[in-house]
Amino acid sequence: MSALFDLAGRVVLVTGATGALAGSAADYLAAHGARVVYLGRSREKLDAALAKCRAKTPGAECLGLVADVLDRPALENARDETLRKWGRIDALLNGAGGNVPGATIPPDKTFADLDFDSFRQVVDLNLHGTVLPSLIFIPAMMEGGRGSIVNYSSVTAPLAVTRVVGYSAAKSAVDNFTRWLAVDMARRTGGKVRVNAIMPGFFLGEQNRRLLTNEDGTLTDRGKLIVQNTPFGRFGEADELHGAIHYLLADASKFVTGTVLAVDGGFCVFSGV
Ligand SMILES: NC(=O)c1ccc[n+]([C@@H]2O[C@H](COP(=O)([O-])OP(=O)(O)OC[C@H]3O[C@@H](n4cnc5c(N)ncnc54)[C@H](O)[C@@H]3O)[C@@H](O)[C@H]2O)c1
Repeated sequence: MSALFDLAGRVVLVTGATGALAGSAADYLAAHGARVVYLGRSREKLDAALAKCRAKTPGAECLGLVADVLDRPALENARDETLRKWGRIDALLNGAGGNVPGATIPPDKTFADLDFDSFRQVVDLNLHGTVLPSLIFIPAMMEGGRGSIVNYSSVTAPLAVTRVVGYSAAKSAVDNFTRWLAVDMARRTGGKVRVNAIMPGFFLGEQNRRLLTNEDGTLTDRGKLIVQNTPFGRFGEADELHGAIHYLLADASKFVTGTVLAVDGGFCVFSGV
């Protein structure tokens, strides 16, 4: 592989690594020679994810550590365990996140019905759950002289997408945090530590399957609307995010920081007409 895209031996921590998108990315990175720390909340799910990773890539260098992204001592413990095992931290994929049903406005309700506690929860998970791991892992990257953070944004950040008011607000804040930290790190590390985000369009997963598809697999009205507004005419597949993540982690993007890279089948550039 060209040196530009070489990830061999890079130590990458992945939050939400037992989930659909970040789990797929973690397996991909391990298959491309990275040393991958799978972070998740459940030991059982982590063990299953590691078994899957090793089945796909015999000899994969992977480690599973329990850490809630809002639990500072658990993240500090993950940092210490990683440094004990591999001596450095090169990258962080902030994949934990998602919507909280109560922070969504159903069609028969209005904004006035919003459950504020759920709004707080969705901001906590997506924004604070991105800020806190960055805060805990960045000093090791600065010390090691190399770092790349990739956050997970959403097309609901730049656009008003109906219903998902809390999730949109949280992901917009992730975009701004990405730019803020990118500038700060660029100035403090001379570009050695970079911060970017990917902006997935709509990918089917356990979180949104019931919202977008019926029991028989056909599309719900909302699912149809999304597909109609996606020039590719379909949802994305988890592995279609791998290339963007690989690029942002590797030296190929050495002069790239503060970007939010859309991987959305054209959703964000389409007027709908
Ligand atoms: N699926 C999509 O269409 C889509 C689109 C845009 C952005 N995203 C974003 O991509 C990321 C991954 O989403 P996904 O679709 O794979 O969802 P997912 O539910 O499969 O994965 C999310 C993971 O985060 C974990 N998680 C939740 N709360 C946590 C916490 N407090 N601490 C640690 N882990 C926690 C969950 O257990 C799960 O494993 C999320 O940030 C999501 O918002 C998804």
